[in-house]
Amino acid sequence: MAKTCLCLTGKTIAQNLNALEHYRNRIDMCELRVDFLEAQEQFLIRSFPEKAGMPVILTVRRRTDGGRFDSGEGVRLVILAKGLAYADVERRKNFAYVDIEHDLHIQAIEEAARTFGTRIIRSIHCLNGLPANLPAVWDDLSSRQGEIPKLSVQTKGIGDAETLFRFFSARPHEEERIITGMGDYGFCTRILSDWMGSAIRYHSAAKAGFEPAAPGQLDPFTMAEVYRGSEPKPGWYLYGLLGGPAVIGSLSPGLHNAGFSRIGLPSLYLPFPADDLDAFLRLAELLPLKGFSVTVPMKERILARLAERSPEVDEIGACNTAVRTAIGWSGYNTDAVGFRKSVLEFMGTSSLRGVKACIIGAGGAARAVAYALHELGAKACVINRNMSKAKRLAEHYAMPWAGMAEKAVDLLERHNELIVQTTSVGMEGGPPGDPIDWYEFTGSEALFETIYNPAETPLLKRAREAGCKATNGLGMLHAQAAAQFRLFTGMEYPAASSQS
Ligand code: ATR
Repeated sequence: MAKTCLCLTGKTIAQNLNALEHYRNRIDMCELRVDFLEAQEQFLIRSFPEKAGMPVILTVRRRTDGGRFDSGEGVRLVILAKGLAYADVERRKNFAYVDIEHDLHIQAIEEAARTFGTRIIRSIHCLNGLPANLPAVWDDLSSRQGEIPKLSVQTKGIGDAETLFRFFSARPHEEERIITGMGDYGFCTRILSDWMGSAIRYHSAAKAGFEPAAPGQLDPFTMAEVYRGSEPKPGWYLYGLLGGPAVIGSLSPGLHNAGFSRIGLPSLYLPFPADDLDAFLRLAELLPLKGFSVTVPMKERILARLAERSPEVDEIGACNTAVRTAIGWSGYNTDAVGFRKSVLEFMGTSSLRGVKACIIGAGGAARAVAYALHELGAKACVINRNMSKAKRLAEHYAMPWAGMAEKAVDLLERHNELIVQTTSVGMEGGPPGDPIDWYEFTGSEALFETIYNPAETPLLKRAREAGCKATNGLGMLHAQAAAQFRLFTGMEYPAASSQS
């Protein structure tokens, strides 16, 4: 099983030792990143392993390999030699590992390491993406007896993660090795280090205020709270979240994994930011994934790859859930179900028959909302910036529609018992502002904002200040995730109180 290693990127030895105390119960080992230390501290490293009281990797990473060290090779070698010198027969006082780059071959250093039981990690950092000749690079890296080869690749697309999984799943897992895909697209290689046969998983001390040593490193607390820590192992069922880079910060992994954990299911859910749907689907076969959620911008693109679709998917024209079946991926849409459950709770009713409602927006989320409002019997209209999209969505359900701004005021005033905001305006990472800043609340409207991050958009704040009953999209997120959980597992999403 991969060891959990904390990368210490403090400026001083004392800061690093403090951080270790914070994480001690969560980690197996640490890496002292000498290149992050202030210059005068870089020579005070010899006693660090004894003070740390756990296995330590000694690393002095050059800038050209993605580190911070730029004082030249002479000084770097002195630091490495200093770290390995005066080695103690009591091995716990020595560095357990030293990271030496693939192009550094100094016999004296290697000999010193071997003599006093310091394992050599032979590393290569491919900052410009996957090497074209991966097999040759790996053969060279792993050819030296007794050393642990380490490959770190800055992933340029989900296809790089696929290549890494494909290449390493075909090699014996008994071989000791470390493989990391850096960056957003490599996120899955970090979470699934045991699937890669990687011996060490590197983590940042972000919650202690430390910088990550490499892009994509997770804090061990996040790993434990969101991704079930080091529990998951090959053989567990895997589920994914397919979408843009924002999926890494999504609340969905926390929701699904908490559900799996409460029931005791050997299952793990993780995000896959993807730029290439085909490469993602190949990776989904390779792992294999049992199901996945789909979010922006893949909800429509996935349609052509589904073996079958639910009536909601056809009606809404978007799929947010794919489940593996004998004939391929079955597509579902739980957004409408989630909205329906959440809006009825919010309105404190079991039907919206006759309720005058307005949908702001005409994108994927709006289509699910329009479908649900239509089913619930509301008298809804559609207002959207792009008028032809508003018209297309509204006419499908024989609803009135308008473009944004002045002309819409009239329509909104006639449909203001329930306002459902579905655009990305006000969302974290989306266009800033309030999509209907031209509308003045009377205080009697109910506002349903589908955005949940931030918890309060400018629109939601304005509605609350005007005295409106208002909610964000958290309830909808939970309800649609519960419906997905049912599709994935065949079980009800467990309430938090059932946690053992
Ligand atoms: P989703 O699947 O999350 O609904 P989408 O299909 O891309 O995403 O739809 C985004 C919605 O936000 C659309 O209604 C879009 O309006 P347009 O159809 O006019 O593009 C709306 N939107 C995005 N940026 C906006 C902005 N700056 N002002 C107003 N509406 C905006």
